[in-house]
Amino acid sequence: MKPFPPRLRKAALTAHITVSLGWLGAVAAFLALALAGLTSTAPQTVRGAYVAMELVGWSVIVPLSIASLLTGVAQSLGTVWGLVRHYWVIVKLLLTVLATVLLLVHMQPVGHLADAAAQAALAGGELEGMRVQLIADAAAALVVLVTVAGLSVFKPRGMTRYGRRRLREQGPNSPRAAY
Ligand code: HEM
Repeated sequence: MKPFPPRLRKAALTAHITVSLGWLGAVAAFLALALAGLTSTAPQTVRGAYVAMELVGWSVIVPLSIASLLTGVAQSLGTVWGLVRHYWVIVKLLLTVLATVLLLVHMQPVGHLADAAAQAALAGGELEGMRVQLIADAAAALVVLVTVAGLSVFKPRGMTRYGRRRLREQGPNSPRAAY
C-alpha cells in the first residue's frame, strides 16, 4: 500500500488517537461505575450504575474499541511503520485484539447484572462474584490500554525479519524521515 500523503496521515492519526484514548477514558468511567455498583449503600446508585454500564459498554466502549483497531490497522498500512515490520506494532495489534475480544465476552455478565438491577434492587452480596470480576476486568483493561498508549509513544526499537528486508529493498532513501 502507498503511504498516506502528509495531510491524510495527520487526519487519520488524529482519528486514531481520539478513538483509542477515548476508549481508555471510557473504560475509566466503566471502572468507576463498577466500583459504585459494588460499594454503594444507596440502592438507586447501585441500580443506576449497572444499567449505565451496559449502556456505556455497548454504545461507547465497544464502538471505540473496534474503531481503534480499524484506524490502527489503517495507520500501520498507510505509513512506513507497516503492520508486521516493527515488534511494537505487532504487540499493539495483539493486545488490542485481545482487549476487544475480552470486552465483547464480558459484556454478557454486564447485561445480566443490568437486567437483575433493573428488575429489583441488588441486595448486599447478590451476584457478588460477578460484580467483583467486572472491577478486576476493567482495571486490567486500563493497564493494557495504558501499556499500549506507552508503546505507541515510545515505539521501542526492534524490527521483524520482514521489516529489515523491506528497509534494505527501499535503500538509503526510504521514507524513514517520516518517523
Ligand atoms: C488501545 C489501542 C491503541 C492506543 C491507545 C493507541 C495509541 C496511539 C497513539 C497515542 C499514537 C500516537 C503516537 C505518536 O504519534 O507518537 C498511535 C500511533 C500509532 N498507532 Fe496506535 N493505538 C492503539 C491501537 C493500535 C493498533 C491496533 C494499531 C495497529 C496494529 C496501531 C498502530 C499505530 C501506528 C502504526 C501508529 C503510528 C502512526 C503514525 O506515526 O502515523 N495502534 N497509537
